[in-house]
Amino acid sequence: MLTRTGINVFQSKDVIKRFIFSIAFVFVLCCILHPSRFASSYYPYIKYSDIENELEPSPHALALVKESDKPLCSLIPKELETSLQYPNESVREYDLKYLAHMHNIAEGGAWEPPQCISQHQVAIVIPYRNRTLQLQIFLSYIHPFLQKQMLNYRIFIIEQGTKGAFNRAKLLNVGYAEALKIFPYHCFIFHDVDLIPQKLSNMYACTHQPRHMSSSLNTFRYNLPYEQLFGGAVAILQKQFELVNGFSNFFYGWGGEDDDFQSRIINRGMTLCRFPPDVARYTMLSHAKELPSDNRFLNLRLGRERFETDGVNTLKYTVIKLVYYPLYTWVLVDL
Ligand code: BGC
Ligand code: MN
Repeated sequence: MLTRTGINVFQSKDVIKRFIFSIAFVFVLCCILHPSRFASSYYPYIKYSDIENELEPSPHALALVKESDKPLCSLIPKELETSLQYPNESVREYDLKYLAHMHNIAEGGAWEPPQCISQHQVAIVIPYRNRTLQLQIFLSYIHPFLQKQMLNYRIFIIEQGTKGAFNRAKLLNVGYAEALKIFPYHCFIFHDVDLIPQKLSNMYACTHQPRHMSSSLNTFRYNLPYEQLFGGAVAILQKQFELVNGFSNFFYGWGGEDDDFQSRIINRGMTLCRFPPDVARYTMLSHAKELPSDNRFLNLRLGRERFETDGVNTLKYTVIKLVYYPLYTWVLVDL
């Protein structure tokens, strides 16, 4: 059968099919070659221009400013786009002492801007054991970083004093409980010691919804290995953490505790958010891969039934030592 232009109808259908096939092929190829460009997320990426609107100011700071002669700091400082140096990997004890002095860091690794009242009162909680060099690199990098963001912050290093499997989530619960004894932080950042943020626009502050901060990580080729990932570095409001009953205390060994935490958040009707991939960029300091725990899948499955009965409301631990070091508040804990 011929059309008016003389092309066989069956032939023209074939041409259309080929055309559609070629477009699909090119699209799939692009996705494989440049996955981050086509990155979509199950949880929304906040647009760069919306970051400021999404940040949640601390009500204490807003109250404080009424009794103070200092003004409120802006939610995001203006001069944030300066480029960052990669952390110095050969820091020494001496450099770190110098750092505390040079940067006017208060005992226990706390700081707030001298000229204005920060709208972000943030506890940065780091679960820790046996990573001395990484801790030194992290501290030397993160203090100047956080100060450029004009935060009121303190760094808590929560160290598992006991041998046996590491319990990251329980250490984070301890950090939460101990931080609140020191200051009514409205925002918590739970952060691995080996993660180095690459962009100053990645504000270490809380958004209205809990935020997965380290979504663009070099070791994952700057892609999400799966959509629900909520590990590495996350930011959550104090009231939201309380509402979800914190982390589970059951996850000994590597893996799963962050997945359980994200289920708790979703179960409570919240959603997660992320900053754009080019803002949420991190480098991981290299270390040997941890051996995943065999129990993690079972814990995850059974965890759902324990949201109400396993968490900060049932947290039991003993503080072995609590020291206000120049660059961090150290809590050595028996879990
Ligand atoms: C584990 C998580 C971990 C993630 C990325 C998952 O299989 O359950 O705990 O954060 O992998 O490494
Ligand atoms: Mn790591």
